[in-house]
Amino acid sequence: MFRQSTSLLAIAAVCLTLAPAPAFAQAPKKAPVDCEQVKCIALTFDDGPGKYAGTLLDTLKKYDAKATFFLEGQYAKSRPAFVKRMVAEGHELGNHSYSHPDFTKIEPAAIRSEIQKTQDAIKKAAGVEPKLLRPPYGMADLQVSDVAAEFGMPMILWTGGSEDWASKNVDAIKKKTLEVAERDGIILMHDWVKQTVDAMPSIVKTLQNKGYHLVKVSDIVKRQNLQPGDIFPVPAGWER
Ligand code: NI
Repeated sequence: MFRQSTSLLAIAAVCLTLAPAPAFAQAPKKAPVDCEQVKCIALTFDDGPGKYAGTLLDTLKKYDAKATFFLEGQYAKSRPAFVKRMVAEGHELGNHSYSHPDFTKIEPAAIRSEIQKTQDAIKKAAGVEPKLLRPPYGMADLQVSDVAAEFGMPMILWTGGSEDWASKNVDAIKKKTLEVAERDGIILMHDWVKQTVDAMPSIVKTLQNKGYHLVKVSDIVKRQNLQPGDIFPVPAGWER
């Protein structure tokens, strides 16, 4: 009898030791980065999750860097595992429409549907709903702003582009990214461009060596106090 209880206890102990961490567990919480105190930059990846997202996530994890992914609903739907991983590894998700139409050329009902279907796909994949919108091509007008406001979302553009989709060249992508890098910058990149993903270890290392903290867009725009329907950075000629 005694023997049996002991072995049961032993089994219980082993089970406790082997129990996996809960699925939502993340790395131990560190103090949040304060971009007023340190040099921050936000790398943003549009149109994904692209097929190279896994390699990109490995790189970001290796260098303890955070990024923001403006996802297309159609790919959130077809590659849900990447979406889930992005959230689990502490990255930020934004809405970049379902199928990438120019929002300034479609009716409000169609814009609404593009945004909602993407929210739904991301929620289904990762249990979260993005709070930021990046309209396709960065194209917005007051009508787009009104629909964004209905969803409670500000619109996020970028301060500099890597031009990765145009060059598709590792050296050119790195050069351009470092050229447009600046404190509190928001950099436009694409995780469907293989050369971007290939260039990323070197880009991340170089930025970190220059003293940058790679953070989420919401860390950068915190001080802007953006309201639903606002756009940031404000494009030339934009009036509300
Ligand atoms: Ni796009």
